[in-house]
Amino acid sequence: MLFSLRAEDPAVRKWTPRRRDRFDFKHENQNRLLFFRGQKVGTVDLPRRALVTGITGQDGSYLAELLLSKGYQVHGLVRRSSLSSQSRLSHLCHQTREERLKLHYGDLADGSGLTNLVLDIEPDEIYNLAAQSHVRTSFDKPVYTVDIDALGVLRMLEATRQLSKHRPVRFYQASSSEMFGNSKEALQNESTPFRPRSPYACAKVYGFHQTVNYREAYGLFACNGILFNHESPRRGETFVTRKITRAVGKIREGLQKTVLLGNLDSRRDWGFAGDYVDAMWRMLQQEIPEDFVVATGTTHSVRDFLELAFHRVGLNWQDYVEHDPRFLRPTEIDVLQGDATHARQKLGWTPGTSFEQLAVMMVDADWKLARDEKFLASAPRFGTQKMENDF
Ligand code: NAP
Ligand code: GDD
Repeated sequence: MLFSLRAEDPAVRKWTPRRRDRFDFKHENQNRLLFFRGQKVGTVDLPRRALVTGITGQDGSYLAELLLSKGYQVHGLVRRSSLSSQSRLSHLCHQTREERLKLHYGDLADGSGLTNLVLDIEPDEIYNLAAQSHVRTSFDKPVYTVDIDALGVLRMLEATRQLSKHRPVRFYQASSSEMFGNSKEALQNESTPFRPRSPYACAKVYGFHQTVNYREAYGLFACNGILFNHESPRRGETFVTRKITRAVGKIREGLQKTVLLGNLDSRRDWGFAGDYVDAMWRMLQQEIPEDFVVATGTTHSVRDFLELAFHRVGLNWQDYVEHDPRFLRPTEIDVLQGDATHARQKLGWTPGTSFEQLAVMMVDADWKLARDEKFLASAPRFGTQKMENDF
């Protein structure tokens, strides 16, 4: 007799991965056909499980939100540190029941730890977003960057390959438009040659090719998303857009006087991170694994972003920006502009946020943050004042 279980059944919720080992699943849309010792015994409507490395980062937090909204059980890889790095996830930790969002310590430097974790969680989908993601920093820390951004991808692919021997699994690699370097083509798409110009970009090219090779050599369902720059109010504060919008808010509130920047002429294809994680998910829902460029198709200079950001709070950027050669790079990419036709046609993906909307969204969030900081700074600080009678 065939039986049917639903995800919320206590019997299913209590199933640990090890107890699942004795069963074999075959996917049929959201349902899984359940086999026990080779015999079909029923269907189980289990929530799909995703593992996200880099879940504490900008993209990881938006992707976790998206996956949870689609009913996934989300597992996140978190680096152990003395202070919590979960500020971008705290709203999810409060809103989400423990069974839906689970965080695990791990590091892309630790191959056996990654394999154990992947085999233990048995995810249906793996999103490898973890990286030393700062291009300027990669010139100062090239070996570390290559270890995490190149070999780290290989470690994740190996872990995924081990799991794929037992059950189906799909793999997403966070590749980057940095790989194109100073391209000879005005618009970059999936067939544009790579000309990397930083240790970061060289490492990403390695990760890209390994991902393709695992697809071709082992038949792994593995995709590269070649994403152009994407930003948000959750962007790290040392990337240029967020550095600018943080400064705009603070300057407007009198908390900062100037902002020091490097090359204002470089041009990037800037989109909104919330739109881009949807493209990642769509890639892993395809019948056949492929690589996709994700971009808005427009390009703007750092100067254009300054213009919009300062204008939003009624200021002129030229009065506040100073040049600092420390923020120049030994090799720079002058222009990036992507052609996401393939993603539009195959994935039905289009960007939903314009450059102007993105700048306004980021400035408004950082202006509010600066107002809150100003308020907190003006409030009496208990416990920091030295007491007269404190011996
Ligand atoms: P991000 O905000 O810098 O986040 C990077 C994430 O990786 C963080 O969660 C970080 O953890 C984690 N991480 C760093 N080193 C690690 C290690 N050794 N082991 C485990 N985790 C580690 O980057 P993002 O903007 O979200 O970008 C996500 C991915 O997309 C990255 O691979 C990036 O290179 C790539 N990408 C980004 C863009 C973009 O414009 N944003 C464009 C193309 C490609 P901590 O929180 O502990 O630091
Ligand atoms: N960070 C930074 N700080 N960049 C500056 C500054 C500054 O003070 N002044 C000018 N820039 C210029 C940089 O030289 C670069 O040309 C441009 O602003 C964008 O720099 P970032 O915001 O640091 O981003 P990125 O383009 O180098 O790299 C980002 O996008 C890649 C995709 O193309 C990162 O998110 C990478 O991880 C990602 O792969």
